[in-house]
Formats: sequence, structure tokens, C-alpha cells
Amino acid sequence: MKKLLFTTLLAGFMTMDLSLAADQVATVKLENGMSVPQLGCGVWELSEAEAYDSVSMAIKHGYRLIDTAQYYKNEKATYNAVRDSGIDRDEFFITTKLWPRYATEQDIRMAIDTSLENLGGRIDLMLIHWPYSHDELAWKVMEDYVKKGSIRAIGLSNYTGEKLSHILKIATIKPVVNQIELHPYNPRTNDIKENLDNGITVEAWSPLGAGRLHLLVDETIIEIAKKYHKSAAQIILRWDIQKGVITIPRSTKENHLKENIDIFDFSLSKEDMEKIDALAEVKGRALW
Ligand SMILES: NC(=O)c1ccc[n+]([C@@H]2O[C@H](COP(=O)([O-])OP(=O)(O)OC[C@H]3O[C@@H](n4cnc5c(N)ncnc54)[C@H](OP(=O)(O)O)[C@@H]3O)[C@@H](O)[C@H]2O)c1
Repeated sequence: MKKLLFTTLLAGFMTMDLSLAADQVATVKLENGMSVPQLGCGVWELSEAEAYDSVSMAIKHGYRLIDTAQYYKNEKATYNAVRDSGIDRDEFFITTKLWPRYATEQDIRMAIDTSLENLGGRIDLMLIHWPYSHDELAWKVMEDYVKKGSIRAIGLSNYTGEKLSHILKIATIKPVVNQIELHPYNPRTNDIKENLDNGITVEAWSPLGAGRLHLLVDETIIEIAKKYHKSAAQIILRWDIQKGVITIPRSTKENHLKENIDIFDFSLSKEDMEKIDALAEVKGRALW
């Protein structure tokens, strides 16, 4: 807040860094009491060099929540960007995901230990990336890491219906997050409700359609963007924030990273939220 006031007072006198301070990003409280920024950045499909650069730029512009995965093969580069930022590790919230292929306790432990080594010995949130036949065992092993303290919270990704109910039934530590595909063409209204009913915070993956859908040139979104003097990406991400979900857009471009976090100075009206909600009925498209 201090930074915003300072830049406002100086406006017009000099060129200044208008990047957002991390404390301007809204936060959500998980069921276990942990506070998490509602907006972060993802690093899927980024090479190690791209992940390092993207996360470094993101940190500069106020991002403190970072989403990686074993599958992305860039955990180490992601952590190195955090380490090299010089900012206290406690200010960050790093998520990674267990790839659903390990069938024995020993293999699951080996995979988690590798992630821990890549991520400097601490994981804030570990998710099971997709449902799989040994996920009950994986969950029990992950619970053990939480009890020992090297993983702070555990959750799921891409879990719905019976798969979600099963983990909830066997869990002694409940999942705090479920990361699912969620964007205006696939708003997952019922899934949001199912998760909320179980005390689980929803996190939106591919919030911008992964560059594969036409969300950013959708005429309804463009029309709303013009009205608020914002970009299409900002309108979609603001829609996420007002839906109460965590959102983790990815970008390799500094101007996009800066733009994507600059969504905490305006609100979409109820009517515009509903116009965006209605896109699912018209377009109804999911990525997978
Ligand atoms: N749990 C899962 O199964 C799962 C699955 C998929 C993704 N995820 C997570 O969710 C994160 C985000 O999803 P995603 O990576 O699929 O894609 P996304 O964030 O929906 O979209 C990324 C694409 O949008 C472009 N973009 C970003 N900001 C923009 C802006 N302001 N204006 C115009 N274009 C913009 C990026 O291009 P530029 O680089 O040119 O900006 C990139 O092509 C992933 O990185 C990953 O961490 C999880």
C-alpha cells in the first residue's frame, strides 16, 4: 500500500517503477489456516531457462505464488529464481505436483525427496497431479511428509466426483486445494461448489486457455475489456478473483506478467460477471 501511495504522489514528476507490491495481491485462507496469494504464475511447458527467467520477472512484479510440477522438469530452475531473488523464502508459496506413476511407497518417497531437493528442502503445497490407481498410497505418504514438516500442505489436481470423495474418505489430513481446468469457456460451477462444500479451495489451471482457445479474442470479453480500460487477459483473471478461486496464469513475457498481476484496482459488475459466465453455454469448450 505504501508503494502505491508513493508512486501516486510522484506521478507526473518522473518515470518510475509502477510494478505492484506483493502486498497488493489479494490472499485467500486455506482450510488449514495458511494464507495464499490469490494470483500466482505457472511454469508448464517452460524450459529450465524460460522458467528461471519467467519466475524472476514475475517476482520482480510482485508474484509470490509459483506453480511447478515434477512433470514440467523445471522445479530446480523455479526454485533457483526464488533463491536468487534475495527475498525471504517465507514470503513465497511454492506448489509442486506428484506425477501419477509411482506405485510403491519407496518410489513415491523417492519422487517426493527429489522434488524437495530441487526446491531447496521445502514444499508449501504438493498436489497429486491426476487421479491414479495408487493415489490412496500416495496420499498416505504425503500425509507423512506433512507430519514431519517438509511439506506444509497437500492437495489434489483434476479430482472430481468419486475420485475426490475417495481421497476425502481415506484422508486423515484433508486436501486444502484442488487445481482444475477453469476459464470462461469451462467455468466448472458444480465442481467449485463440490470443492467448497468440502472445505477445499479451487485453483484454476489454464485460466487463459493455455493459448490454445480463443478466449483472449472473444468478442464479449473484448467488449468488457474496453469498458474497464483493461486487457482481455486482465478481465478473465479478475473474473477468477471474483469467483474466489486462485489463478496461476503463465507467461514468458514481462509485459504480460506485469499486466496479469495488475487486476486489483477494479471490480467487474455483477452484470459483467454474468455475461462472462454465460460464455460457457455459448462456447462450451474445454482444453482436454
Ligand atoms: N494441474 C494440471 O493438470 C495443470 C494443467 C495445465 C496447467 N497447469 C498450471 O496452470 C498454469 C497456467 O496454465 P497454462 O500454462 O496452461 O496456460 P494459461 O496461463 O492459460 O495461458 C498461457 C498462455 O497465455 C499467454 N498469455 C499470458 N498472459 C497473457 C497476456 N496478458 N496477454 C496475452 N497472452 C497472454 C501466454 O503467452 P506469453 O508467454 O506470450 O505471454 C501463453 O501462451 C500452468 O503453467 C501450470 O502451472 C496445471
